[in-house]
Amino acid sequence: MDRQRFSVTTPIYYINDRPHVGTAYTTIAADVLARYWRQRLGKGKVFFLTGTDEHGAKIERRAKSEGKAPKDFADEVAAVYEQTWTIMNISFDDFIRTTEPRHKKVVVKLVTELQSATTPKGNLAIYEGHYTGLYCVGHEAFMKDSDLADGLCPDHKTKPETVTEKNWFFRLSDYNETLQALIEAGEFTVAPETRKNEILGYIAQGLEDVAITRPNVAWGIPVPFDKKQTIYVWVDALMNYVSALGGPGGAKYKKFWPADVHLIGKDITKFHCLIWPALLLALKLPLPKMVFAHGFFTVNGQKMSKSLGNAVDPLTLVETYGNDALRYSLLRDIAFGTDGDFSEDRLKERYSSDLANGLGNLVSRVTNMVEKYADGKFTRRAKETPAEFTKAMDILRFDEALRVIWNHVDAANKTIDDRAPWTMAKEGKIKESKNEELKNLLNELANTVLDVNDLLAPFLPESSAKISAAFKKPVKKAEPLFPRLT
Ligand code: MSP
Repeated sequence: MDRQRFSVTTPIYYINDRPHVGTAYTTIAADVLARYWRQRLGKGKVFFLTGTDEHGAKIERRAKSEGKAPKDFADEVAAVYEQTWTIMNISFDDFIRTTEPRHKKVVVKLVTELQSATTPKGNLAIYEGHYTGLYCVGHEAFMKDSDLADGLCPDHKTKPETVTEKNWFFRLSDYNETLQALIEAGEFTVAPETRKNEILGYIAQGLEDVAITRPNVAWGIPVPFDKKQTIYVWVDALMNYVSALGGPGGAKYKKFWPADVHLIGKDITKFHCLIWPALLLALKLPLPKMVFAHGFFTVNGQKMSKSLGNAVDPLTLVETYGNDALRYSLLRDIAFGTDGDFSEDRLKERYSSDLANGLGNLVSRVTNMVEKYADGKFTRRAKETPAEFTKAMDILRFDEALRVIWNHVDAANKTIDDRAPWTMAKEGKIKESKNEELKNLLNELANTVLDVNDLLAPFLPESSAKISAAFKKPVKKAEPLFPRLT
């Protein structure tokens, strides 16, 4: 895929609680993409955005239950997010918080512009109306009876509140045909295919108008033209993707908007694939090129989430297994786009089989033999990138990309077992041609490891840096990359 620059985002996370493996999953995937494109395009050509979603009833209530002012509470948890991603070696370029003045300024400007915007059918894009119905505070979303399972929100297992309120509405119902045409033509890509079909299904049923303001939520950005209301937290949040770039018109916006990929979980597709593009159309701004929705991490089949009490703290796993092993296991075990059960046993298994015995063993054997039998020398040839790897990365199939890499790792280990370089070294004392054969083999192996290392770098940045260091000439036997677990 040819690109001049690359821009990737994660959802901005709610700060009602700390990060867990589910939120880390999206962030790690975005990090892999950002590193991959930095490697291909060079510095300054990639923009990787993450951040925190801090307004709305859910946060307001959570702060209250902690006996804290919402902003103080937000400051604390937003800092935990930023620290967690830093410890996890996430290479974000910007961290946007919706309570920052730079964000609020852009949101107010865009919402003001919506007032005079018109829809493709020539109607005013927003109007005043009333809503009576269900609201799930966990989702910060208006819901219908048909969204519930046994009267409860299927994700939060709570009963939604019934609210009657006066809101400003956005005329989403005027965008059915326009959105359908853009998605079908691939001008606005919704991936994977299952999610695209789901979204086209919603459009076929006919989209309904959506509230964009809330009258009874104090913790939010005041509506510029109706000070008794605040901007609905989802509209506020979606606009982070452009507010972080300084809003339309600025230099950063010109360079990095539209985003190449909004990475999200499958729980928030309606917001990203329907409401967000329609708002952008109303504002006459370009749409993101792609929204990619991955699946859920489940624990015994249930979505991992703080509210269900089955969340796993990524930092606990990082302490035991390291950042790279967590990244590897999350991305290798589940095809990006589908659901998968999380299990620490699986992570442990991957750690010892693929990482310690596979990659770690290969690097230590090759560096050891290059040091011992080739005076630490080898000749680097031009690097090779397998076409299947590039293809997998283009469609965000990280599991496939890793499988391609590990085919090379396994093949190289097998070559060592089959050809037994140590025997060649012994025979070389008697037969000179064996020395030549050994040198060529080690050269081949060193090059394979460095080719593999190049592909690995976005996935396992810490191990990759160690491998590069170990192959600085003269090569010396590398320290174990993945020490035995205690
Ligand atoms: N604040 C909104 C997003 C606003 S974006 C403009 C939100 N936040 S969230 O904290 O609930 O995070 C949601 C995202 O976290 C999901 O879309 C997904 O990317 C990730 N995940 C949260 N739980 C997850 C799993 N159990 N499994 C996989 N991803 C999960 O929604």
